[in-house]
Amino acid sequence: MSCYDCCFSLNIWYQLITMKGVIIILAAYFLYYCKGATVTFNVKSNVLNDRPIIGVLSQEQSFYLHSKYPDENYTSYIASSYVKDIESAGARVVPILIGKDRGYYEELMKKINGVFLPGGATFFNQSNGFADAGQHIYEIAKKLNDNGDYFPIFGTCLGFELLIIIASGRGEIENRIRCYSHSNLPLNFTQDYRSSKMFKETPLDIINILKTKDVTVNAHQFCIVDENLKSHNLTNDWRVTAHSNDDYNVEFIASVEHRRYPFYGVQFHPEKSAFEWKLSKKYPHSYEAVKANRYFMDFFVQECRKSQHSFASAAEENRYLIYNYEPRFTGDLGSAYHQCYFFEPKGTVSYKN
Ligand SMILES: *[C@@H]1O[C@H](CO)[C@@H](O)[C@H](O)[C@H]1NC(C)=O
Ligand SMILES: *[C@@H]1O[C@H](CO)[C@@H](O)[C@H](O)[C@H]1NC(C)=O
Ligand SMILES: *[C@@H]1O[C@H](CO)[C@@H](O)[C@H](O)[C@H]1NC(C)=O
Ligand SMILES: *[C@@H]1O[C@H](CO)[C@@H](O)[C@H](O)[C@H]1NC(C)=O
Repeated sequence: MSCYDCCFSLNIWYQLITMKGVIIILAAYFLYYCKGATVTFNVKSNVLNDRPIIGVLSQEQSFYLHSKYPDENYTSYIASSYVKDIESAGARVVPILIGKDRGYYEELMKKINGVFLPGGATFFNQSNGFADAGQHIYEIAKKLNDNGDYFPIFGTCLGFELLIIIASGRGEIENRIRCYSHSNLPLNFTQDYRSSKMFKETPLDIINILKTKDVTVNAHQFCIVDENLKSHNLTNDWRVTAHSNDDYNVEFIASVEHRRYPFYGVQFHPEKSAFEWKLSKKYPHSYEAVKANRYFMDFFVQECRKSQHSFASAAEENRYLIYNYEPRFTGDLGSAYHQCYFFEPKGTVSYKN
């Protein structure tokens, strides 16, 4: 605003006030009063929760690790890299067990600020496993958001595939294709990715790393391709923001987000760059790789700060937090995960395979 504009508008205000003083002042008072009430309300709902707690879903114990701990009846696990990645972004983690009834997930989700669905390897057709728990969580989160709450979900790799398969309606034929990708890849962003929720505020240096460097870690034998979204009428709800190409040049969806709900998925593994070290996997550990991968949990945790759910007390938080469990060093047992947390929801998971 130039000085001329400034003087001009001051002059107008002076004239209005002197000409219609009382009316203007009353109107201004009325406007201020109403506006004040609205502002108070908006500010309250916009306050960010700086102590977010995020649930991480466990999954069926891997056959490999079961063979390494034959006497301990662990039935589920969480790879520590996911927990560390979330913790590094400024949140705490609560493990979510599989094999529970819907009430368990409903009660827990009233207390936490978002759910993370990890990658891994398990079938979606086992009863009371990762997929059934994921379905409860998805349906409950949808209902919460529909009722005006804000409840984010982030799925990585298998967790991302599960989101899309649940959105497709699970069924006997799973809505994903076989593919093969065990490479570090760049992202090929879609044309309008900069207006997406996930990438609209991403710093340009991180975008450039993701676009041009082989920094996203892929380790999957299934892909979701554009055709999977089209065939199940999902394109109105889900927005693709990037693709990558598998080892045989099949173009798969690398990142996606729901248009209305705060639900996000990536096919690659942001957590491995900083937190997984198996030499033969050739994970990218460079300064740039770590920096760019760091972005995804920074983004997700910021989404979770928009949720105001909380535990009843610090004592109740303490009973749920993952600090009640000690991770085991599994890297020296040959696992692709350097450390894992193990859980025992005994007798509830039925292995059909
Ligand atoms: C594991 O399960 C077996 C068979 O149900 C049981 O005999 C054993 O005591 C259990 N081990 C532990 C450590 O709970
Ligand atoms: C579950 O899916 C896997 C992989 O598609 C298949 O091999 C297995 O037979 C299925 N199990 C059941 C119980 O349908
Ligand atoms: C990137 O995606 C566009 C379409 O969005 C496609 O035309 C182009 O070939 C892709 N580039 C690579 C390197 O796959
Ligand atoms: C997708 O929508 C079309 C047209 O509305 C409908 O004919 C088709 O059955 C739908 N497909 C699925 C998988 O829901």
